[in-house]
Amino acid sequence: MVKDYITTEDFTKKELMDIVKISLLIKENIKAGYPLNVLYHKTLGMIFEQPSTRTRVSFETAMTQLGGHAQYLAPGQIQLGKHESMKDTAIVLSRLVDVLMARVQKHETVSELAKYATVPVLNGMSDYNHPTQEMGDIITIFEHMPQGKTIKDLKVVFVGDATQVCASLMMMITKMGGHFVHYGPKEFQLRGKYLEIAKENCAISGGSFLITDDEEEALKDADFIYTDVWYGLYESEMPKEQRMSIFYPKYQVNMDMIKKASNHVKFLHCLPATRGEEVTDEVMDDPNVSICFDQAENRLTAMRGLLVYFMGKMEETAKICRENLDKN
Ligand code: CP
Repeated sequence: MVKDYITTEDFTKKELMDIVKISLLIKENIKAGYPLNVLYHKTLGMIFEQPSTRTRVSFETAMTQLGGHAQYLAPGQIQLGKHESMKDTAIVLSRLVDVLMARVQKHETVSELAKYATVPVLNGMSDYNHPTQEMGDIITIFEHMPQGKTIKDLKVVFVGDATQVCASLMMMITKMGGHFVHYGPKEFQLRGKYLEIAKENCAISGGSFLITDDEEEALKDADFIYTDVWYGLYESEMPKEQRMSIFYPKYQVNMDMIKKASNHVKFLHCLPATRGEEVTDEVMDDPNVSICFDQAENRLTAMRGLLVYFMGKMEETAKICRENLDKN
């Protein structure tokens, strides 16, 4: 078994589906009111080099609900990579906690932590990808599957900038055998290694991918439309005027765009959203279209499943959940 969750590319479709299934089973168990203490006395260390709402809160809540505890190691509050090498930090934290998650500026940081840590390391977002988001997203897509369709029939369109969330969505959808489209301006499209990954995944899964700036080709028959903020958060953020001149109005998800997709299309956003830029209020708040708040809730669904999987508690947890649910 792979020790760390750094990229979904390290896992087969079946392994990822196992995590989806255990996540959904735990969700059902918890919604039914049954406590689950499979991570009793276990501690998660949460390293953050950037601010976070969903990732931080969902991991911490997940640990509490599973009987464990989470420690928030805030930006700048530990020695990581400054007064102490990455290697030493990884070794020391492995002696103090049972599992680690890290949200980092540079992907190499989380890879390095995983290399030297003896406990599992989960990537809570880097500049390369966002695999815990990916897991919550695929769970949300399964929960909102259009009637009569399977994952292999889906057209999932990411609109706008090729963020790490866009890259992650591509990895998951092509791995699962769906049809992935990135609809964005030429200079802000997925490229390089990401395209190699898409090609490799599709060759195995039977899925397909398209990178385009052609609106009709992108949106026709889309089952899901997903967007993220335009050009970077944090240090790399582009001034508003500049990003509006690149992406607006063509790549804004508004009701006109929604009408160009299938009539059952659903809207996804990893959040936080910049309302009025990449998405309008009308779309985000439309209960028939927007599922972005279900998606945010499923960060918690995914974190519980991921923690149980990487702590080696899958079988035990599934057994307890099934016994509980059989009582209903
Ligand atoms: N989507 C996401 O990762 O949100 P946070 O930055 O709030 O964790």
